[in-house]
Amino acid sequence: MPGKQIPIQKNKIKDTPEEEILFTSLRASDWKEFFGQSKVKHSLHIALTAAKKRKEPVEHILLYGPPGLGKTTLSYIIAKEMGVNIRITSGPAIERSGDLASILTNLEHGDVLFIDEVHRLNKVVEETLYPAMEDFALDIVIGKGPSARTLRLDLPKFTIIGATTRIGLMSAPLRDRFGIVQRLNFYPPEDLETIIVNAAVKLNLKVESNATGELAKRARGTPRIALKLLKRARDFAQVKEKGNIDDTVLTEAFGLLEIDELGLDDSDRRLLKALIEKHQGGPVGIETLAATLSEDIGTLEEVIEPYLMQIGLLKRTPRGRQVTEKAYRHLKIKSGYQAKQKSLL
Ligand SMILES: Nc1ncnc2c1ncn2[C@@H]1O[C@H](COP(=O)(O)OP(=O)(O)OP(=O)(O)O)[C@@H](O)[C@H]1O
Ligand SMILES: [Mg+2]
Repeated sequence: MPGKQIPIQKNKIKDTPEEEILFTSLRASDWKEFFGQSKVKHSLHIALTAAKKRKEPVEHILLYGPPGLGKTTLSYIIAKEMGVNIRITSGPAIERSGDLASILTNLEHGDVLFIDEVHRLNKVVEETLYPAMEDFALDIVIGKGPSARTLRLDLPKFTIIGATTRIGLMSAPLRDRFGIVQRLNFYPPEDLETIIVNAAVKLNLKVESNATGELAKRARGTPRIALKLLKRARDFAQVKEKGNIDDTVLTEAFGLLEIDELGLDDSDRRLLKALIEKHQGGPVGIETLAATLSEDIGTLEEVIEPYLMQIGLLKRTPRGRQVTEKAYRHLKIKSGYQAKQKSLL
């Protein structure tokens, strides 16, 4: 059946079950509901159309970029467009080569195998994957010692779609086996507004137009956050027994959630303040910063830092992380530079 989904487990827990249901129900199911990212869509469109003309599965695709920008969603859309099954797994879920072999031998011609967190595949599994990606074959070692021999098992032609938030952690040989590599970027507020309006229609919510703008502005360039904020706003509107989501509802919601006008939350501000107050604004190494915040390096690099850098509050320098003048202004803290300027007046 085209577009049939055969889920395996997903090892990443970041939303509550209720939110997971909400996101699944709101998941863009085809191109016309996948807004923005026009360059990525265009490249994929060309690759898919060409593959369809050749009557071949599309090349392996690697999608990378910060969390919540649509990598999983795009993978479903690609499988649907190609009219094939999608099988979902993740790097840490494939523990042994045998697990990979059983997944691959169960694929049908043209199927998509989606590997989330593909940078977390272990070395042995990764090496089993190389011939599978290149030659659609599995090399299986039978027996041990001098009598051991390798058996080559042919596989149907398939497409792997790998997704990662940390392309830097992927080995070069694995990265190079993906014919199509696409980076998803943060969304501009206009695109987030479209996503919010579309979701509001699906959820049967009335959102006033300036409220849509406010939500988009604070969504950190990320559709998942835009949808989460919309949902929080809906809760507030319901508690207040108001029909609409308007500025009053939002002011209250953002106040309680401690989300400021740039969309920063407590963990973002904690990072910037730690840099300023404990490390004179930096530069400071990521390990030291993580220790200061009792935070894990992965979370800092993957979730918190990309947006702070995108909006110019944080810089990565060869000597470590450094806050910018804009960060001082945003937090209303005087920088050494500003204090010096003042004393010169
Ligand atoms: N371009 C888009 N248009 C409409 N909705 C989108 C778009 N991109 C993402 N979304 C919505 O945002 C939510 C999160 O997207 P998705 O799960 O695909 O992100 P992801 O990149 O896979 O994140 P992660 O790295 O955390 O796995 C989904 O509900 C999805 O439908
Ligand atoms: Mg995903």
